[in-house]
Amino acid sequence: MMSYHVDLDGVGTSCHNLCVLLTGMLGSNGFTGSSQNYSTLLLEEETGRLYVGGRGALYALNTSNISTSASLTLDWNVTPEQKKQYFLCSLQTECYNHIRFLQRYNETHLYVCGTNAFRPLCAYIDTERFNFSSGFEEGRDRCPYDPAKGYTGLLIDGEMFSASQYEFRSSPDIRRNFPFPTLRTEEAPTRWLLEADFVGSVLLKESINSSIGDDDKIYFFFTERSQEQIAYPSQSKVSRVARVCKNDWGGQRTLQRKWTTFLKARMVCSVPEYELHLNILRDVFVLQGRDVQSSVFYGIFGLEWKNIKASAICQYAFSDVRRVFEGPYMEVQDSKWREYTGKVPEPRPGSCITDLHRSQGINSSRDLPDSVLTFARRHPLMAKQVHPIGLVPLMFKRSVNYVKIAVHKELALDGNLYTVLFLGTDDGWLHRAVSVDGEMHIIEELQIFAKPQPIESMVISTVQRSIYIGSHSGLIQVPMSTCQRYTSCYDCVFARDPFCGWDGRVCVEISSRAQRANLTQDISRGVRGCKEKSGNVIHRRRAVMLGDDVLLQCELRSNLATPRWTLNGKELQGYGLNSGYRVGTDGLLIIGARTQQGGSYRCFAVENGVSVLVYLYTVKIHTDPYLPTEPTQPLPSPPAPLPPGPNFQTFRHMEAIYISLVAVLGGLCLVLTVVLLYVSFCTRRTNQSRKFSHQNLHVLGASDRKRSSNLELKTISSHCNGRQGRFLQIIPDEDQISPAKTPPPAPPLPNPPPLPNMDYANGLSATLPSVLRKMNGNSYVLLRQADPEGMSPLYHSFTEELNRILEKRKHTQLDMHPDESSI
Ligand SMILES: *[C@@H]1O[C@H](CO)[C@@H](O)[C@H](O)[C@H]1NC(C)=O
Ligand SMILES: *[C@@H]1O[C@H](CO)[C@@H](O)[C@H](O)[C@H]1NC(C)=O
Ligand SMILES: *[C@@H]1O[C@H](CO)[C@@H](O)[C@H](O)[C@H]1NC(C)=O
Ligand SMILES: *[C@@H]1O[C@H](CO)[C@@H](O)[C@H](O)[C@H]1NC(C)=O
Ligand SMILES: *[C@@H]1O[C@H](CO)[C@@H](O)[C@H](O)[C@H]1NC(C)=O
Repeated sequence: MMSYHVDLDGVGTSCHNLCVLLTGMLGSNGFTGSSQNYSTLLLEEETGRLYVGGRGALYALNTSNISTSASLTLDWNVTPEQKKQYFLCSLQTECYNHIRFLQRYNETHLYVCGTNAFRPLCAYIDTERFNFSSGFEEGRDRCPYDPAKGYTGLLIDGEMFSASQYEFRSSPDIRRNFPFPTLRTEEAPTRWLLEADFVGSVLLKESINSSIGDDDKIYFFFTERSQEQIAYPSQSKVSRVARVCKNDWGGQRTLQRKWTTFLKARMVCSVPEYELHLNILRDVFVLQGRDVQSSVFYGIFGLEWKNIKASAICQYAFSDVRRVFEGPYMEVQDSKWREYTGKVPEPRPGSCITDLHRSQGINSSRDLPDSVLTFARRHPLMAKQVHPIGLVPLMFKRSVNYVKIAVHKELALDGNLYTVLFLGTDDGWLHRAVSVDGEMHIIEELQIFAKPQPIESMVISTVQRSIYIGSHSGLIQVPMSTCQRYTSCYDCVFARDPFCGWDGRVCVEISSRAQRANLTQDISRGVRGCKEKSGNVIHRRRAVMLGDDVLLQCELRSNLATPRWTLNGKELQGYGLNSGYRVGTDGLLIIGARTQQGGSYRCFAVENGVSVLVYLYTVKIHTDPYLPTEPTQPLPSPPAPLPPGPNFQTFRHMEAIYISLVAVLGGLCLVLTVVLLYVSFCTRRTNQSRKFSHQNLHVLGASDRKRSSNLELKTISSHCNGRQGRFLQIIPDEDQISPAKTPPPAPPLPNPPPLPNMDYANGLSATLPSVLRKMNGNSYVLLRQADPEGMSPLYHSFTEELNRILEKRKHTQLDMHPDESSI
């Protein structure tokens, strides 16, 4: 069974995660064609082609690099005449041809369907020439009219299976579209599907031991309105898995041109700690094993309430699904669904026709006895539920909506296969998580699209070791791993990234090395193998006024690490309220600095019992309010106030006094000017840095990391909600992605003026605005509200603390700059 724990972010998740903001993202390639909504992907590893269906166009890209200009385009737009003709176009704005179906038909052709402005059409594409090889076919019963409707389809051996709501008035339906006879689900007396919203389907060949391969089944995954009474009255929907037999031909008299093998069951994905039942299925990924027994699937589940962000990943075994389908049925009794306990006819309804049946003279579903068909008609629902492996989610995450999932198994140095989940969010991020001993570790959070938008499509290439991600605005190819992002042995090993190993100098992709003996990796424990005891140490100086509060930032890269502080080599003891210190997840706060608190502070990240030095601060406490605080910024130094001298006391030198007075006034003016400039500059900076996140980040390369780590980082996203520090700033704006577009015009804003230094004043001025923004992003605060048995209360963040200080400071703004307050 799986071990299972609750942590800050949810259940069973923990991360040593690296937060990577948009591309420049090492080794990633982008593609943007003439269209939008890159929602349909077809990857063909053998030919090295990635086929993409967008809005009004299809593309054939090179899987090794989707950015290369060798891509082919096939336009398929709604013609102006069609637009005029379709009355819906005048009512609705969405009058495009969204490609929804794109699959291999035979060796030479693809089959494709598009919504075509609410009049779906399908066509064959010659892959050699990449053009339409024939006229268009009616697509009304194969493709949904609406691009937003849930849809899934499969093309197998020249037979097409699909599930969606096909027409405006019709109810959702699972169909065999061709060949004849077409099949569909039953609507009366028992409606088999109720407002179903489909997310996926898969063919599982169960015919391995069957002579004619007739036991193949197709599984469909969806959410629908529940018919049965469920335990949670607040919920109206349930997640389901349904299946039909591929060799179903419908019934002879009963269930004519309907499925005779349709069965469905409820899927459960609940977090017992919170009594949370996630009932909306958002996506599934099927990981096929050697046979059905070893095949599993992963589902992303969310809540019915759209305003609450939460996601759970549950993993299911098809053997469990099969067991449920072999169990008791439900039946409507007195207009309520109850478990049916009566006699079940033979052959068992829902089972496929196999050699066994044929030996009994039943050659196809049309030979099934009426009793079986009548029973099947009224018993589409199974009584037992499908529970996830281990009964609990692999992972539960609050404040994040995952919408797409892909799964990959990677062979690590220790000879074990590790499951790596790639999870796309509704705001353009990709999370990479690895399962170690049944516990998920989020290794990396990557910002894929600058503009927050849902990931619409995702596919993995094991050959290219790439993952292709489509959204409204474009398509991105990201390497499965980017080990060079880990810059120290500890980063590399603590990350527990099965793709990465430390070779003594750098972190490398294990797969890239034939010689692996000298590589270090420790996935199971994440501690072994590193010699040096420090990562990349960041050294800062701080000058503080006596009695002021200072924050020494020490954001730990890893979510699993806890901070440890020393002052002049001695452990800082008792961080209580009276100690003058508070330690939090983002750093150490010195409250009302005293002289003896000056010195050399070291912040260590303690993870897996290993302390790694990450920050070193030299703190000076100043007592003289007239001294400018450590002039780290090249401000024009204000003239020092006149020293009270003996010439002051004599009346003989009135001239000198005059001159002094003028000088003092002049000096004050200068100081004031400087201060004003400074204040206005700070304000501008703050405003600018807000825009940074989407515009100017390309100026903040990894080399600027130290400097930028204070401000910009936290502006970006709730994904990096304050716990993971030190982000790499790599954002391509969307223009950069597009190879077709001309280079973007110069940004409207000049690059941010070279900053004097972040460490001016006492550190707070640099910190507070970003903290505020963090709170505006709200996940920061929310995350920490309910913290069931999270971290020790010692390690809470400073949000509230700083908020309080900020509140205080609002009334005495100038306190932050001792020079001013003295004027
Ligand atoms: C894709 O690009 C690679 C490298 O540029 C090239 O060798 C290969 O032939 C291309 N494949 C296709 C299908 O065009
Ligand atoms: C992919 O191709 C583009 C355009 O030719 C090129 O700029 C980019 O460097 C290539 N990417 C990789 C990872 O080779
Ligand atoms: C594939 O299907 C297309 C469309 O029906 C047809 O024109 C073509 O001849 C077929 N190719 C093969 C190799 O069967
Ligand atoms: C099933 O097929 C066998 C062999 O083709 C045939 O003899 C038999 O009559 C068929 N049974 C039915 C019910 O059609
Ligand atoms: C297509 O993309 C646009 C933005 O580019 C978006 O507003 C729209 O909702 C998308 N349509 C669908 C059906 O996803």
